[in-house]
Amino acid sequence: MQRRNLGQTGLQVPVVGMGTWRTFDVRGESAKRNARAVVDMALQVGANFFDSSPMYGAAEQVLGETLQGRRDQALIATKVWAPTRSEGKAQVKRALALFGNYIDLYQIHNLVNWLEHLAMLEQLRDAGLVCAIGATHYSSSAFRELRQVMQTRRITAIQIPYNPLQREVEREILPLAADLGLGIVVMRPFAEGSLMRHIPSEADLKPLEPFGVTTWGQALLKWILSDTRCHVAIPATTRANRIAENAMAGEPPWFGPSEREYVARLAKQ
Ligand SMILES: NC(=O)c1ccc[n+]([C@@H]2O[C@H](COP(=O)([O-])OP(=O)(O)OC[C@H]3O[C@@H](n4cnc5c(N)ncnc54)[C@H](OP(=O)(O)O)[C@@H]3O)[C@@H](O)[C@H]2O)c1
Repeated sequence: MQRRNLGQTGLQVPVVGMGTWRTFDVRGESAKRNARAVVDMALQVGANFFDSSPMYGAAEQVLGETLQGRRDQALIATKVWAPTRSEGKAQVKRALALFGNYIDLYQIHNLVNWLEHLAMLEQLRDAGLVCAIGATHYSSSAFRELRQVMQTRRITAIQIPYNPLQREVEREILPLAADLGLGIVVMRPFAEGSLMRHIPSEADLKPLEPFGVTTWGQALLKWILSDTRCHVAIPATTRANRIAENAMAGEPPWFGPSEREYVARLAKQ
């Protein structure tokens, strides 16, 4: 799996990592065993960048449990998502306890109360408990505010949605991030699964075979990662075999403009 520097965060990340929204918000022994199998596979194939949030119900807790005894093999990107400073502090305390007292990338979720949380996260970074600070938003309606946060130069990474059906970031966010040297984490690579409703035929995917692409999921991930301003995509899955499948998109050769255009056309069919 190729690894890229996540902008100037100091983190080197696999180009394919993993999200935990919904997929890790699980209870009960059998669901937790499944989550562990997913993490086992992610570590095995080098997709060891895990994104979570206190907004995702039990996901942070379940992820923490699956990494017990092997936290050092993982890069943890979690978030603070709280209207008040005291709630934010409580979330951080919980996450630090779950992840061995260290968070690789601490992100401000949906920019909620970002000014207060930014100051708190800077203190944690200065104390050596956090490596890098980022900000996330899923909606283009918030991109103006996201640009303001980026321009403070107090964060070193952002997390944004990017896939052939959601390309708003191409206009201003990706160019600004590149100018500022920010790391880019790509959420919703499959548009929350909606890009999987129509799977192109084998014949349609055939022209992508020279790029090591044999499945639609791989085509979509390679579409994202071939824009090398994007450092890590974080598809979520409940199936260990799909972790392996997705990870295979994390190797060159990358698509050129014509293959990207081709995949974008397939996505709109
Ligand atoms: N900061 C924010 O505001 C924000 C918002 C949304 C998401 N996120 C982060 O981004 C992550 C990813 O986004 P997402 O979870 O919304 O959606 P996504 O990754 O675009 O899509 C997830 C869906 O794709 C399916 N899938 C995964 N690999 C597949 C494959 N190879 N073939 C076919 N289907 C496949 C999964 O189903 P199966 O389980 O059946 O495989 C799952 O239903 C989240 O988990 C979260 O960590 C952040």
